[in-house]
Amino acid sequence: MRIPLVAGNWKLNNTSTQAYKLVVEMIPVLRTIRDVEILVCPPFTALMAVSRLTRDTNIRLGAQNMYWEASGAFTGEISPIMIAEFCQYVILGHSERRAYFGETDNAVNRKVHAALAAGLRPVVCVGETLEENETGRASGVVSRQVREALLGVDLLDIDKLVIAYEPVWAIGTGKAAAPDGVNTLLADIVRGTLRGMFTEAGAQAVRILYGGSVNPENAASFFRQPEIDGALVGGASLKAASFVALVEAAQR
Ligand code: 13P
Repeated sequence: MRIPLVAGNWKLNNTSTQAYKLVVEMIPVLRTIRDVEILVCPPFTALMAVSRLTRDTNIRLGAQNMYWEASGAFTGEISPIMIAEFCQYVILGHSERRAYFGETDNAVNRKVHAALAAGLRPVVCVGETLEENETGRASGVVSRQVREALLGVDLLDIDKLVIAYEPVWAIGTGKAAAPDGVNTLLADIVRGTLRGMFTEAGAQAVRILYGGSVNPENAASFFRQPEIDGALVGGASLKAASFVALVEAAQR
């Protein structure tokens, strides 16, 4: 049984003061939630403030990126051990990092290894662009991204991994993918690739999330799908009411 995970990726939003206020607003309802894992991923500068609030709650904390080196002359970067001071999770390979910051499959793979070594749970993002989708390349792209991100990962670490399938054309557009189509792609391509790399039992241990224009109105239709183990949410995670509604939808 995979426990559903609802994760908020705040992206480049909220100062530490704003982040603190937002989490204070969410906590009264979120603390009543059972059987759903709740994750918020604020910007680096808000991690310390939010961690003070979430420490003794059922809310997990994640970063949105990290570098793979532990320390050294890498100006502007943040290391796995720095993140592990505050966080249990780290988002890696988000399509915005791939598109705007030149992150490659190989870089994502190095980060996955470094995160696991630091005791962090990676949320590895994969997903095809509109052009790749329209030219029938979604399956090939997604299976390559999964395979390359997880090359060399030990079977013993497999249950720490989360994959987020986020078709780029569905992110921030209000045009979510069709839940049944996502379910098929997750079954055939994402879990299929995992099965080839990590055995059937390994593949079944990995939680797979959907991301891309998830909101309180459409969330239940995703959570009903057997292969969808939760959601990675951008816009709708920035308001307490909508994030709480998504978590409640996952609980049902
Ligand atoms: P939206 O929910 O705003 O479409 O963003 C999805 C996303 O990129 C989460 O990582």
